[in-house]
Amino acid sequence: MSLDGSARRFIPVAKLEDIPKLGARRYCRDDGKVIAVFRTESDSVFALADACPHKGGPLSQGIVFGESVACPLHNWCISLASGEATAPDEGRVERFDVRIVDGMVELAP
Ligand code: FES
Repeated sequence: MSLDGSARRFIPVAKLEDIPKLGARRYCRDDGKVIAVFRTESDSVFALADACPHKGGPLSQGIVFGESVACPLHNWCISLASGEATAPDEGRVERFDVRIVDGMVELAP
């Protein structure tokens, strides 16, 4: 959801039930950028660029726990809400607004 009040264009990308719990689905933008849309155990959704801030690992293939994801390559943990790596690691991945409307996951890519 937009925090600054600006009008963002959300597009439907999947039914919530089509994203595995504690998993992710990938959305490819027209410019080739890949966005990972995550679903937590409690059915919250988050969206991050599908590239770890360490060496670009595919976060969509990581392990989701709580509201974090562990990168499959070197196990950095990334906050799904902020995109920030958990200390002592440092770095941040781009995050995107995402919401659920009538069971559909909508993304503002
Ligand atoms: S590329 Fe993700 S932890 Fe190294």
